[in-house]
Amino acid sequence: MSLRVIQFSTGNVGRHSLRSIINRPGLELVGVHASSPDKVGRDAAELCGLDAATGITATDDLQALLALKADCVVYTSQAETRPQAALADITAFLAAGTNVVATSLVWLVYPPHADAWLREPIEAACAAGGTTMFVNGIDPGFSGDLLPLAALSLTERADEILVQEIFDYGTYDDAAFTGASFGFGTTPDTVPALFLPGVLASIWGGPIRLLADRLGVQVEELRERHETWTATETITCTMMTVEPGQVAAARFAVEGIVHGRPAIVMEHVNRLTAQAAPEWPFPPDGRPGVHRVVVRGVPGVEINTHVGDESTDHNMAGVIATAAKAVNAIPAVCAAPPGLTHLSDLPVAQAHGLMP
Ligand SMILES: NC(=O)c1ccc[n+]([C@@H]2O[C@H](COP(=O)([O-])OP(=O)(O)OC[C@H]3O[C@@H](n4cnc5c(N)ncnc54)[C@H](OP(=O)(O)O)[C@@H]3O)[C@@H](O)[C@H]2O)c1
Repeated sequence: MSLRVIQFSTGNVGRHSLRSIINRPGLELVGVHASSPDKVGRDAAELCGLDAATGITATDDLQALLALKADCVVYTSQAETRPQAALADITAFLAAGTNVVATSLVWLVYPPHADAWLREPIEAACAAGGTTMFVNGIDPGFSGDLLPLAALSLTERADEILVQEIFDYGTYDDAAFTGASFGFGTTPDTVPALFLPGVLASIWGGPIRLLADRLGVQVEELRERHETWTATETITCTMMTVEPGQVAAARFAVEGIVHGRPAIVMEHVNRLTAQAAPEWPFPPDGRPGVHRVVVRGVPGVEINTHVGDESTDHNMAGVIATAAKAVNAIPAVCAAPPGLTHLSDLPVAQAHGLMP
């Protein structure tokens, strides 16, 4: 019997998870949430670029969606800018008996690291509804949990783990959230919310602690660092136009200190076009982006992940992969014991690929 699934939001990530749910055998789309008035009432297929109508139309009526008693909701609504509203939506589903897989509320990729204000209401709702919640994506998510765990499965001894996203965001059409998060287009004296003390660690400290817990080591401290690169010439790309003196690249990291040294590090080198920050690392082989893990130890292991190909831009591919990460986890999350879960509590093989 198919799992009955609701898609919550139809934005950058949501339209891809919606398409994936509709197309995937074993899943039945039973509801779609859209907040924008111009989307409410439209067929789900139209909202994700499919031709054949599904008969399921978008609604902004949360109570109607709760009443469907679906097996799972894929929650991809923007949440970092409206965490209390997202928390209210999610706990309502969990308490009503509907499991949640989400790309939103990125602080929950490793729940033991998350603040109590976020974790406790969700745990209570899971207990009340007998339900499970899982948050993941490509980064944070795959790059900081499944990718390094795959590398660590090959190591006899790990001395240092470096996880990097090195990505050209120039083709990503999201200046309002992603661009603003990295401070792109601002002057270097403007500190974006991501670089306020504690924010980087709240997001990428979770995957560091997940790996430390798997390795049985104690993280003594989470150290944050960030720097920006300002354009020397005008840079024009899909995301925005950056004038000289404005930020066109950001490099930031969270370092997990073990035995007094940075032993587990999650670093980003994010730029707007290859023009930006020429002295910072680039992905290998001339590629526009990489999610990479480098384990120093015995033996050394390096895995470079490139999403996208000739027909799919790497930024679009990152969004599709994030949506797939959530949708592919639905059967495992529906079968898991109640509670807030994470990658290392779930069966690792959440793979899926539709062959034409
Ligand atoms: N871990 C990862 O790798 C990863 C990668 C990408 C994104 N994410 C996370 O996934 C989430 C979605 O990202 P996105 O790029 O798809 O975001 P987005 O396109 O900016 O927004 C997603 C949707 O959220 C809904 N929304 C926005 N404001 C709302 C409001 N005030 N009330 C109700 N709904 C609202 C809208 O849905 P409708 O259009 O349907 O009205 C919007 O299209 C974010 O939380 C982001 O941080 C995680």
